[in-house]
Amino acid sequence: MCGIAGYIGKNQASDFLLDALKRLEYRGYDSAGMAVLSEDNALNCIKSVGRINSLEEKIKKTQLNGCLGISHTRWATHGYPTKNNAHPHSDCAGDIFVVHNGIIENYKILKERLIKSGHKFKSDTDTEVIAHLIESHFKDNLEQALLSALKHIEGAYALAVISKNDPGKIVVAKKSSPLVICIGENENFIASDSSAVVGYTNKVIYLNDNELGIITENSHKIISIARNNEIHRNHCNVDLDISEIQKNGHEYFMLKEIFESPEVMKNSTRGRIIPEEGLVKLGGLEVLDQNKLRNINRIILIACGTASFAAMVGEYMLEEYAGIPVEVELGSEFRYRKPIINSKTAVIAVSQSGETADTLASLEEARRKGALTLGIVNVVGSTISRETEAGIYNHVGPEIAVASTKAFISQMTVLALLTVYFGRIKEMSLIMGKRITEEIDKMPCLIEKVLKNDKQIKGLAKKYSKYKNFLFLGRKYNYPIAEEGALKLKEVAYYVHAEGYSSGEMKHGPIAMINENFPSVFIVPNDSVYEKNWSNMEEIKARNGKIIAIATEGDENIKNIADDVIYIPKTLEMLTPILSAVPLHLFSAYMGMELGCDIDKPRNLAKSVTVE
Ligand code: F6R
Repeated sequence: MCGIAGYIGKNQASDFLLDALKRLEYRGYDSAGMAVLSEDNALNCIKSVGRINSLEEKIKKTQLNGCLGISHTRWATHGYPTKNNAHPHSDCAGDIFVVHNGIIENYKILKERLIKSGHKFKSDTDTEVIAHLIESHFKDNLEQALLSALKHIEGAYALAVISKNDPGKIVVAKKSSPLVICIGENENFIASDSSAVVGYTNKVIYLNDNELGIITENSHKIISIARNNEIHRNHCNVDLDISEIQKNGHEYFMLKEIFESPEVMKNSTRGRIIPEEGLVKLGGLEVLDQNKLRNINRIILIACGTASFAAMVGEYMLEEYAGIPVEVELGSEFRYRKPIINSKTAVIAVSQSGETADTLASLEEARRKGALTLGIVNVVGSTISRETEAGIYNHVGPEIAVASTKAFISQMTVLALLTVYFGRIKEMSLIMGKRITEEIDKMPCLIEKVLKNDKQIKGLAKKYSKYKNFLFLGRKYNYPIAEEGALKLKEVAYYVHAEGYSSGEMKHGPIAMINENFPSVFIVPNDSVYEKNWSNMEEIKARNGKIIAIATEGDENIKNIADDVIYIPKTLEMLTPILSAVPLHLFSAYMGMELGCDIDKPRNLAKSVTVE
């Protein structure tokens, strides 16, 4: 949560800083701000409540000139989203400015101490203590002052600091929140992630925890906070294309990303399936001792939110076809439990961003207990991808809409690949391996077919937009999809209440809510639990509930019970969730648009949840 950026070079800093904030806006969007050091060494700061464009309007009127600056887009943790609480925050004199992503856990004690020694605070944020702490340690060198200040700070931070009393540099520090230093020609940048610098440079250095960086126009230096010595690290080249972070004709990123689902399947499976041999090749796992992999007898999938629903689908796949016991754990729960883990347990983190704090902390806990730690991650170079022993990238490009859609499709796809991978190491037959890989190969075309229902789904969103409550129901492989459908609707059509339930559990409670004003969305493909779902639909109908069914093409009978039907093509039961998720993603997006919601940036949310 929160995005930070910094620029030092020959150009106007505000141009990059604004551009970067627009790209990082998915990380938080309740207020924003920028501080720039002018040529005559004046530090000017502008802040604004709301989206980046309101900051942009203010900057246009003010002319924030200067070639060195920092900026921030906020997702409030401490203090309301007001102008005073917006970053950058400064010391008493306004000589030092700080932007921060993370949480300072001991800020209350520090603030009391600083107030007692005469510091004047202007905000309710935890971040402001950093500016005052630096002020209290500052002699003539900003990095030394920051190093001293950090000794008092507990918590998570990605920080960027500038000072008019030590100009010509940006000093940054990282612990548990992401930060990159990006190298240009006679200019350098810092940002929360590399999407901010696409089009400016592709040379990126990922900072590790407990490192401090100093960037000037022509140099960069990394220092270990603990040892105070220099660390030499080469940059990586990130090959992001500018078109990947643009809407390319779509009204919203969310729609663009849903329509990318067929491409997503191709990218996540490219070079990884060998249908003729019924095999899956996962280069990312080749670095591991293959005997260790063969001996894995239990898998724990750790994830949060939408990623946890993909993990649930993965649990069913892996248990049914690879014969390995699997548990799905929410990161926020796992990290505080006493899980039973040994060296034959593989703990796999599933995370689009690779930065989710709860997932990351759980992974660290698992590693301490001796598990093999793996990742299924989309963002290349993200913390989870670096902290795990090995992993599989989703390769779906940047997901910019806050609500995850294409990454969800890819997470299920990669878990299907992993099922064949583990299955074939263990007892899966060649025939079964071929059957699954051939079907995975066909999926992009099948998703294309689902997307052709776009207009019908838009029409249904219009028809049902007057309803305030929805129940999403599914069984077995499609139970997690019911949860996903409900989560997505709540998120992006945020005036609507929705619940996801297993169809079989519905009669144990939720059925009490059903009447003619409470429609149910049933995911009911022609699978092994079709008849069971049918009985549950009868129970809904008997209570005058309306039904929208996601059913298999050719199922004409479904029209006798459902008020509306969206068809998906036939596929293997284990792969049906990949198809059934797509119309539900579209339905949520169109419902949100119908209700006038900003579906890319839902109320109160941020994409990358880097705080507990
Ligand atoms: C929902 C959504 C969230 C994320 C969750 C985990 O649409 O996007 O529920 O799935 O915050 O994020 P990652 O996958 O980045 O760990």
